[in-house]
Amino acid sequence: MARFNLSYKRGKFIKMKKHKRLRKKRMENKSENVSFRKLVNIPSTTHATFGLYRYPAKFIPHVVAYVMENYAKEGMSIFDPFGGCGTTGIVSRIYGHDYELWDLNPIIKILHQVAIMKPVNINSEEIIKEMRDSKKEFIPNWSRLSYWYPQEFLPFLYKVWGYYHSFKDSEEKNILVVPLLKISRYFSYDDSQRQKLSKSTRSQDKIKELLKSDWQNIFFEMLKKEINKVIIGIKEYSEMSPKNVKAVIRGGVDSLGETLNKKRDILITSPPYIQSQEYMRQAKLDLFWLGYTEEDIKKLSKLELPYRHIEPIEIHSKTFFEYRNKIKGKHIQEVYDKYFWSILGLFTQLQKDINSRMFIFVGNTSAEGISIPLDRIIIEHLENFGWEHEITLIDTIVSRRLFSYKVNPASERKDKRTNVENLVILKKINN
Ligand SMILES: C[S@@+](CC[C@H](N)C(=O)[O-])C[C@H]1O[C@@H](n2cnc3c(N)ncnc32)[C@H](O)[C@@H]1O
Repeated sequence: MARFNLSYKRGKFIKMKKHKRLRKKRMENKSENVSFRKLVNIPSTTHATFGLYRYPAKFIPHVVAYVMENYAKEGMSIFDPFGGCGTTGIVSRIYGHDYELWDLNPIIKILHQVAIMKPVNINSEEIIKEMRDSKKEFIPNWSRLSYWYPQEFLPFLYKVWGYYHSFKDSEEKNILVVPLLKISRYFSYDDSQRQKLSKSTRSQDKIKELLKSDWQNIFFEMLKKEINKVIIGIKEYSEMSPKNVKAVIRGGVDSLGETLNKKRDILITSPPYIQSQEYMRQAKLDLFWLGYTEEDIKKLSKLELPYRHIEPIEIHSKTFFEYRNKIKGKHIQEVYDKYFWSILGLFTQLQKDINSRMFIFVGNTSAEGISIPLDRIIIEHLENFGWEHEITLIDTIVSRRLFSYKVNPASERKDKRTNVENLVILKKINN
């Protein structure tokens, strides 16, 4: 543990020098190509608890750590209105900052809770033995369950999840949840090679093969491995010396209608993409096992960006109108408008309660084959509310897991997304 901390700090020193060079460059230029993986000394994107759950389009921890190391002063608090699986919070804790996370997807609460756990002394063999003997059942409230699972697996899964739900809040429950979600998905017809929930010939063949095997034993063998992975991840996280800070986690909230109860110093977030309307659909299998009902999930799906109802707002960006005029299709124009009314409306509202800087991580996106400069539009709009654009750091996506579509569901055209993402850095101008 001591050795890890030493090299961690030394790495930070070298990286600070690089950051100073960057700062000089930015005096002349307002954008810079970077590799966050190289600027921050975290061993990998899946180190510690960062890779426990495959949340779509999650931050690599290096992006948040870069912000913490170079911009967050002692005592500053951090806010992420699209918290996803909680990366912003998990990293904030390492640097000793209070934080607040919101997300429409209620799974954030559980994933965050597991990721920040203290090391535990749990015997996976014992848990599995108890689970095998348990008689309790949990049946998800979902009419389509048998579409996603063969009949043979369901009674078994009811029992496994019955055991999980028999705990109140406990370490065992936290250690079990991610492994159970992962394996229950593996035992379903969902094709894990695809980013969204979907059945395929490949996934149906996988189930056929499983049914021919001693699948109950396979299940428990996988469970043992996955529990051990969580235990190791938690141990690695504790070696990064997370601090006891104050955290507010709000799952199942529509960030669009919310205001902060308390001012925060730094906002760091990655809003949904124009095309990515499907976080709830992607998560629904997991949410049913966790006990959410069909009605809960329908209600949340309707609030997901950008296909929700939204009132127009005034947009202060000439680039927004320039690109809007290039789009010919009425449907795509509507999607384009709704998307910007949503995210710019949200930032307009939230920026009032941010004291220092905003870090907005956006990818490039296209409509009708035209690449839309999201970053430019966000900057122009927020400049109007007393924010100054400091720089945009451009990173190449290596492993960030995005939804991938052959055809963009928004435009119904071939998806042409580029593989760079921009961290837009805005500073509040003091009046
Ligand atoms: C790009 S992801 C954020 C991932 C996050 N940075 C992480 O590291 O896990 C965008 C998030 O926006 C959330 N979202 C979509 N519509 C929302 C809404 N109306 N209110 C709050 N969150 C919403 C999605 O559930 C998703 O988690």
